[in-house]
Amino acid sequence: MISLLTHSNPLSYLPHSSPTPSISPFFTHTKTLKPSKLKSLKINSILQYNRKPELAGDTPRVVVITSGKGGVGKTTTTANIGLSLARLGFSVVAIDADVGLRNLDLLLGLESRVNYTVVEVLNGDCRLDQALVRDKRFSNFELLCISKPRSKLPMGFGGKALVWLVDALKDREEGCPDFILIDCPAGIDAGFITAITPANEAVLVTTPDITALRDADRVIGLLECDGIRDIKMMVNRVRTDMIKGEDMMSVLDVQEMLGLALLGVIPEDSEVIRSTNRGFPLVLNKPPTLAGLAFEQAAWRLVEQDSMKAVMVEEEPKKRGFFSFFGG
Ligand SMILES: Nc1ncnc2c1ncn2[C@@H]1O[C@H](COP(=O)(O)OP(=O)(O)OP(=O)(O)O)[C@@H](O)[C@H]1O
Ligand SMILES: [Mg+2]
Repeated sequence: MISLLTHSNPLSYLPHSSPTPSISPFFTHTKTLKPSKLKSLKINSILQYNRKPELAGDTPRVVVITSGKGGVGKTTTTANIGLSLARLGFSVVAIDADVGLRNLDLLLGLESRVNYTVVEVLNGDCRLDQALVRDKRFSNFELLCISKPRSKLPMGFGGKALVWLVDALKDREEGCPDFILIDCPAGIDAGFITAITPANEAVLVTTPDITALRDADRVIGLLECDGIRDIKMMVNRVRTDMIKGEDMMSVLDVQEMLGLALLGVIPEDSEVIRSTNRGFPLVLNKPPTLAGLAFEQAAWRLVEQDSMKAVMVEEEPKKRGFFSFFGG
């Protein structure tokens, strides 16, 4: 039996969602359920939500997953949120816009099935549907890679090419997808500009460290200059033991620094690395892990254009709680 209590050290900040339905109760139900009741909940029971999230906004929702600093979890977020959305019944096309260093195919376990890329489509060497790789687990999830690994951005390939691609995806016979997720390369050079051009919303992934935050702040400015006003953030690799020891910034600190709506908070979890190496995204794990549930909950919020709040939770001593999952 796994306890879902939420008590923690007062130095820690617990993310608290707005009162939308949630597949994971640790952020939302703590105000309504007594700890004794929460204690007895089995982790499986929290997946039994009683409705499908309502899709807000016009389709396709073109969302770029970006960061500034590299290695903070953009591809992990794209894979896990993408498959969560597909599992919720939405049609998803995930575009790996990382030219030369693509790895979304690896995380999804689809690398052996990528025969063509967008570069070949634009050269007229294949049709768009030949470059789309349909996931065998969820037929409403497709992967599209911009180019082959280790290749360079072809001459003339830029934002306009990606806008054309998004338009072509809208006009496909099987209908317009609900979500087009663009996995952005690190940095703020040509690849970044190309990846953000067709997007009308952004998910900014950051870790709670000062270097990632500085880069994230710069990226927010660039996104806004490009006309992307709907920017939400994911705080990844959060370690509550370090927050307690004041060795890591809290989620509340991060939110105050960046001033963005909070889409999700993902704990540091060795399962993420394991699932990456297996090509089996975390959200498919059974039983689910906390990081997997946090990704699912973020996907739910993305659908409904919802966000959560970081709040401080009072300590209740001598109880093992929610943060014990995080090693806290
Ligand atoms: N919550 C987490 N807990 C533990 N490891 C994680 C977590 N999130 C990501 N990682 C690991 O961090 C590494 C980088 O993740 P990922 O490739 O998703 O980052 P990225 O931002 O896409 O990198 P790049 O900028 O190179 O494209 C991977 O090895 C991944 O398994
Ligand atoms: Mg990546």
